[in-house]
Amino acid sequence: MSHVPVLLKEVIHYLDPQPNENFIDATIGEAGHTMAILEKNKPNGKVLGIEINPELFQKLQRVQDENPELNIKKRLIVVNNSYANLREIVRENDFHPVRGIVFDLGICSWQIESSGKGFSYQKDEPLDMRFNPNQDLTAAEIINFWEMEKIEKVLREYGEERYSHRIALALKEARKKERIIGTQQLIDILKRTLPKNYDNKRIHFATRVFQALRIAVNQELENIKQGLKEAIEILEPKSKIVVISFHSLEDRIVKNFFKEQEKNNKLQILTKKPISPSIEEIKKNPRSRSAKLRAAQIN
Ligand SMILES: C[S@@+](CC[C@H](N)C(=O)[O-])C[C@H]1O[C@@H](n2cnc3c(N)ncnc32)[C@H](O)[C@@H]1O
Repeated sequence: MSHVPVLLKEVIHYLDPQPNENFIDATIGEAGHTMAILEKNKPNGKVLGIEINPELFQKLQRVQDENPELNIKKRLIVVNNSYANLREIVRENDFHPVRGIVFDLGICSWQIESSGKGFSYQKDEPLDMRFNPNQDLTAAEIINFWEMEKIEKVLREYGEERYSHRIALALKEARKKERIIGTQQLIDILKRTLPKNYDNKRIHFATRVFQALRIAVNQELENIKQGLKEAIEILEPKSKIVVISFHSLEDRIVKNFFKEQEKNNKLQILTKKPISPSIEEIKKNPRSRSAKLRAAQIN
């Protein structure tokens, strides 16, 4: 697997894995962070990795064979599930004590570039956007069948899209003529609907709409809230929780959750301000540019 993990040095700094300690990677993805942890918690420390996407889960089975020197077969447990079910996953795998957990939210490069699920506005693919292909709801279902008001709310709340009303109206008109099933079709509608100068250097005009649809399809914000809540319940005293988010909605949830739990005396915040990647990291890995890391220690 060829993934470049985001804020790797910082994740390792806060988790501070020591020989024989156990960790959870709640979003193992392409195992970038996990491999670094497995390097540090040798010879007998374990990682429990959770991945919601079945294809990535299959690919992860291969990691175990690719790295015989790290004895990964014995030290890495991977489950195909959602981190929203963290407590149950930990119980089923009898995984304890846990010294720390990392959440690297969102999607990984493989999903954007090769999954064919319509995550990227740079490719013409079906408007699917499901992390878990076993669920029914897809992006096409939302666009073609949800009421206009509901679509507008998704765009406004999950995309912070200023033109949510205008876009929802345009989708309602367009779908009367034909089903909207591909990313290029959606892009064409957006292009016709949004002001010409809406595109700027940092953000493509379709970014917010794609983000909103992905969050709605995968119930990402609800999952984050649930995952964080369950993390507090399974972590032992003095263990660490590290979260990397990629947009302000996620970061706000993490920030407020940490603040509330600190007030309740459940944890201590270790990052007064969120940590962002260095200019060098952003140059090497442009995808990291919007990453923000927050860390806390359980009391
Ligand atoms: C940014 S990537 C993680 C990359 C990983 N840290 C690495 O270094 O390779 C996020 C991963 O989390 C997965 N994911 C998203 N929602 C999830 C959920 N609710 N439960 C488990 N995994 C989830 C995605 O499928 C994706 O593979």
